[in-house]
Amino acid sequence: MKIKLFVTTLAVAAVLAGGAAMADRAEDAVKARRGYFQMLSFNLGGLAAMAKGEVDYNAVAAAKFTANLDALSDVDLGPLFLPGTDNQAMAGKTRSLPAIWSNPTGLVGRSEDFNEAIDLLSIAAAQGLNPLRSEIGKVGGACKACHDDFRAKDF
Ligand code: HEC
Repeated sequence: MKIKLFVTTLAVAAVLAGGAAMADRAEDAVKARRGYFQMLSFNLGGLAAMAKGEVDYNAVAAAKFTANLDALSDVDLGPLFLPGTDNQAMAGKTRSLPAIWSNPTGLVGRSEDFNEAIDLLSIAAAQGLNPLRSEIGKVGGACKACHDDFRAKDF
């Protein structure tokens, strides 16, 4: 994923739109980014099922999952992390920690590690079950590293 955070957008947008419209916009941003992460999870899950032997390895199916993960890794999540949508401002609706906005460099680093792990997994998954097995753990590790820093454990 790419992450270019909006810093000044909120103030500008607040002038243009009313308060209620801004609240809708904030809720929509949270829904959109949660949906994005569900997309990641679903596609990685398809590969994980093969790696664990729950379903047979299938090169065509594996290529579809990795193509989706590659496409998702090109999405710029910046617009979805609207200022004012952390888990303190919107308790119960999001697990995004304020650190996302206070430590954007750290967040970008985590997303770059993730993109790199996805690239390696795409190559490996096309080569067969064993290469898939040896690379998939690194992607899981990249997901977890970002969650440890930027996602609350609970709502
Ligand atoms: C750069 C940081 C980062 C990376 C990398 C990352 N995540 Fe997340 N993830 C988050 C954040 C932040 C949230 C919380 C979103 C929210 O609630 O606003 C989240 C939420 C989620 C959720 C919960 C979605 C929901 O419905 O609330 C799932 C599932 C998830 N991530 C899976 C993954 C998987 C699988 C990967 C790796 C393939 C991954 N994430 C990589 C930061 C990341």
